[in-house]
Amino acid sequence: MEKQVKTKVWEQQPKESDPAYAAFSIYRDMGKNRTVAAVVRECGKNRTNMLKYFWITKGECNMRPLETFIEQRKERFVRNSLMSDEFLDFVNKNMKPIEKQMSYYQCAIMEVETKFKVLNEQYSLEYDRNPIEDIKSRVKSMESLIKKIRKKDIPLTLSSIEENIHDIAGVRVICSFPDDIYMLADCLLSQDDITLLEKKDYIKNPKPNGYRSYHMIVEIPVFFSKGKTPMRAEIQIRTNGMDFWATLEHQLRYKQNIEEMDGYEEVSNELLNCARTVIDMDNEMQRIKNKIGQFHDI
Ligand code: GTP
Ligand code: MG
Repeated sequence: MEKQVKTKVWEQQPKESDPAYAAFSIYRDMGKNRTVAAVVRECGKNRTNMLKYFWITKGECNMRPLETFIEQRKERFVRNSLMSDEFLDFVNKNMKPIEKQMSYYQCAIMEVETKFKVLNEQYSLEYDRNPIEDIKSRVKSMESLIKKIRKKDIPLTLSSIEENIHDIAGVRVICSFPDDIYMLADCLLSQDDITLLEKKDYIKNPKPNGYRSYHMIVEIPVFFSKGKTPMRAEIQIRTNGMDFWATLEHQLRYKQNIEEMDGYEEVSNELLNCARTVIDMDNEMQRIKNKIGQFHDI
């Protein structure tokens, strides 16, 4: 006797038409937050027609069997592939060179930081003030490195990562006054072991959202036991005010997904106004410093 195969609730039913199944598939694939209203939006049909379209006339279908099925599949996949010995071998073999490369980037950061600290020290001796308030450095996290590889759609090899991603080593220098930014950038670039690969002056040309900062991608030699290796680093130089604005804007914009919220335009304008206030304050501080500088060497 021929075995009857029972159709699963999420599969096309024997008497279900193709358009009805297509509409239902959208509903099914929306995941746990699925609603009929969203299917109506996507298909452009009115709700009554849509409900007729669905093989489940009420428009609500119990998807729990499908969700359980997907969960079980996911767990089986993780057990069979991600927890397998082969995968662990793969991770060990491939992670070692990446971890080694990341530690080289950490060394590049140390080299760049030292150069700025030396400039700060010398300035302090000569003019009795420190142009650098703070230096914040980081090696890009694995998560954000992977996201960038995906975004740039580049091959997953060390050489391609090195060639295409220039901000794995990042050094952020926070200054007191706008003029200090250009003074520090010039002093650094005049050193004969530093090569400037790219420069973006978001102070003279702020981004439309109000972001300001001075960016450079540089190459710097790092001396290891077997000789020197040129390494790339991204340097961002900005005033306290610019950093204050950028840090808060980053928190608001990226963490809370404000692009999707109602009134996003208003919030953007308010952030832009804050940026303008910061520019005014930076310029005013610079003006006061220059005024005092006429009488004292600062
Ligand atoms: P990516 O390196 O892929 O980000 O692109 P890019 O090289 O064109 O970027 P850009 O040099 O313009 O900026 C690099 C870094 O500057 C970012 O990773 C942020 O740290 C900072 N940045 C740039 N634009 C903004 C912004 O609008 N707001 C904030 N808070 N930070 C920004
Ligand atoms: Mg960049």
